[in-house]
Amino acid sequence: MDQIVVQESRALQGSIPIAGAKNACLALMPLSLLTEEPLILTNIPRLSDILTMEVLLESLGTQVTRYNDQATISLSSRRISKHLAHYDIVRKMRASILVLGPLLARAGQAIVSLPGGCAIGARPVDLHLAVLEALGARLDLQDGYVRATASRGLIGETFTFPIISVGATANAVMAATLAKGTTVLKNAAQEPEILDLVACLKAMGAQITGEGTRTIVIEGVDSLSGARHEVVADRIELGTYMLVPAITQGSVELIGGRRNLLADFCRKLEEADVLVTETPRGITVSKEDERIKPVDVTTAPFPGFPTDLQAQMMVLLCRATGVSRIEEKIFENRFMHVPELVRMGAEISIHGGVAKVTGPAKLRGAPVMATDLRASMSLILAGLVAQGETIVNRVYHLDRGYEQVEQKLRGVGAKIMRIRNK
Ligand code: UD1
Repeated sequence: MDQIVVQESRALQGSIPIAGAKNACLALMPLSLLTEEPLILTNIPRLSDILTMEVLLESLGTQVTRYNDQATISLSSRRISKHLAHYDIVRKMRASILVLGPLLARAGQAIVSLPGGCAIGARPVDLHLAVLEALGARLDLQDGYVRATASRGLIGETFTFPIISVGATANAVMAATLAKGTTVLKNAAQEPEILDLVACLKAMGAQITGEGTRTIVIEGVDSLSGARHEVVADRIELGTYMLVPAITQGSVELIGGRRNLLADFCRKLEEADVLVTETPRGITVSKEDERIKPVDVTTAPFPGFPTDLQAQMMVLLCRATGVSRIEEKIFENRFMHVPELVRMGAEISIHGGVAKVTGPAKLRGAPVMATDLRASMSLILAGLVAQGETIVNRVYHLDRGYEQVEQKLRGVGAKIMRIRNK
């Protein structure tokens, strides 16, 4: 398995281009199941999760064509030939559950493997199922699969999510576009990835209002057309790379970044005494002196502080002078990077869902291992400011969500390389 070797790298300077959002893309690609016409998506990131979604869609009968630039993809689901999302694919990627709503809406049936638990918590899919049931689907759980049918089509309904879920909101919106009548989704997610999904659906002819608020209203239509859509910038990649100049005392411009994708995160950086400036091309983050102020962070649904940036933010707070607290409110088991950071010299203790970070810590390089995507990235960030060499194992997590990570970081002067092991 590949490893990434990082050496202490200070005062990083330059620019990093931000790719299209993985999570937006994973919700956009299944939209092709809703139409007979081709769906063309541009600004696609080159990531293994995207390839997994391609394989899944192909297994359902979708024709997938990559254009030469590799960042454009055409998805054509003229006929849906199978309705089965197999365990072998779903176990690799939970977002596979996002084919359930569209399959059901277009074909009236779907058999999708249940994703099961994963490294960052139990992560059930009960809300995905509950909202589809409210729209008239009949569900049957058997042998680890959910068999869903709606032989006479889905029917619009009002549904209130008991907790906010990005994935369940996406599944519900997709399914409701072809349902009969009006669907009202209350306590819906308002993440930028949901806005992107709705923008694409509207280009396909869907009738939707209220996106970006907690109530989304969908008027069902008989059919949807194809469309061409550019995937929104990846706010998690953006936030991750914004931390690079903040921790290394450098200055980096993030091309394609926008403050409104990460308003709360930007405010926390500023509270920590890091300079964030909007530029015509994106956002520049600079830090001239070494002094970082401690800040308290609580993860929350958008527009709050994203759980997907919690592990990376912790590295900045290890460098702050004083005590910071990070409360994880979205996933119950998302502090698995903590023992690894502690092995590198960080002073962090966990009580319940709160991590207490005491700084400034003198980090030292070490061989480390990550158990999830964002945690892997926090170890790379820690490696940039640790004395000596850090070797990050289980790099496949990283390749699921960060495109060309070594190239992007080397471009701003980081000492980082990949060792390819068979
Ligand atoms: C998405 C993102 C993920 C991010 C997360 C929270 C994708 C592909 N992934 O995941 O990177 O970390 O949003 O911003 O877009 N829940 C239930 N029942 C359900 C569904 C969710 O209890 O049926 C709970 C989850 O366990 C969690 C909370 O709801 O505690 C929020 O999860 P959700 O927003 O659904 O996350 P995902 O859509 O899976």
